[in-house]
Amino acid sequence: PDDGLALTPPMGFNNWNSTHCRADFDEAMVEGIADLFVEKGLKDAGYRYVNLDDCWALPSRDADGGLVPDPARFPHGIKAVADYVHAKGLKLGIYTSAGTRTCDSAGFPGALGHEYGDARQFADWGVDYLKYDNCNNSGVDARTRYTTMRDALRATGRPIVYSICEWGENKPWEWASDVGQLWRTTGDISDSWGSMLSILKQNLPLASHAGPGHWNDPDMLEVGNGGMTDTEYRSHFSLWSVMAAPLLIGTDLRKASPATLDVLGNEEVIAVDQDPLGKQGTVVSSEGGRWVVAKEMEDGSRAVALFNESGTAQRVTTTARSVGLPDAPAYTLRDLWLHRTRNTAGTISATVPAHGTVLVRVAADRRWASYPPVVELGLD
Ligand code: GLA
Repeated sequence: PDDGLALTPPMGFNNWNSTHCRADFDEAMVEGIADLFVEKGLKDAGYRYVNLDDCWALPSRDADGGLVPDPARFPHGIKAVADYVHAKGLKLGIYTSAGTRTCDSAGFPGALGHEYGDARQFADWGVDYLKYDNCNNSGVDARTRYTTMRDALRATGRPIVYSICEWGENKPWEWASDVGQLWRTTGDISDSWGSMLSILKQNLPLASHAGPGHWNDPDMLEVGNGGMTDTEYRSHFSLWSVMAAPLLIGTDLRKASPATLDVLGNEEVIAVDQDPLGKQGTVVSSEGGRWVVAKEMEDGSRAVALFNESGTAQRVTTTARSVGLPDAPAYTLRDLWLHRTRNTAGTISATVPAHGTVLVRVAADRRWASYPPVVELGLD
């Protein structure tokens, strides 16, 4: 939508991937995450939204039709949590479904038929972001359901980022760019290599539909949840960034390892995701498990992911010309994980470990015009 919201992909946290409906999803967790955003430098790195997923409410509405926060999880209500988060310069997100009930089997109230009242309540609490799910939708047309909530959110007058979560079922990339700022493109991610890879392959072909204020959402991050290796998590984070995906941390940061914080806090990788041009990277080549995905950046450079899907180390190679750079006497290659710079006459190449990604930012470097021919250093 043309409302100035989410001009770069939203960044933040959502509890679902780490807690689902378990009791450790509560006020202490949410406020603890807000504290850590500040203490661990994640706020400075760009993370803003602290988002509540399903199971924050009681199963029944009150006598006036209002939603009631579960007093066991949120004893001071949602407004108190919003105030806490806002006091840290952060923003609060909430969840409900475009149906009669939410998705969890316990079945919390959904907003179908209650859109204007629920949106008003969210705005009164100080909510800044709504994830709107698709369960128990009574067969009502998706576009109608999601557009009604858009209008209800607009009617509140409060800027609220609107995340459409219908799992790509109704091709939202074809109709939702004027409805919400992001739309899920797939079913739910889980904390496994296979799940991450499958979602990657579904989201990559949708690149042309993404841009400032309207993003493809390949679901929240699993980085740190334990089902993948650190190498695989670096691939997950690299590829989500090259796809200009929302970066919603899905691990309980109160228990995060230094390696997890290093991945999530890598500002050079985040800068790829958050580039103001807002292009989603596209596949340059993919053969034998060797993927090259390139993202055009506002400064004319390219972020290039050399991704090895296979189970053995392989050399992944492309060229400056193949990733769309102009002819130049030389190029600068910045390795965004090793944080070091190399030069090349045009070859972009690295030996990439099994399931790994070498992520580089490549720029034409005209200063080298008067130098002797450049040695092909590659990256290793
Ligand atoms: C659906 C969504 C998930 C999560 C759960 C909560 O499955 O796709 O992201 O919000 O519901 O029940």
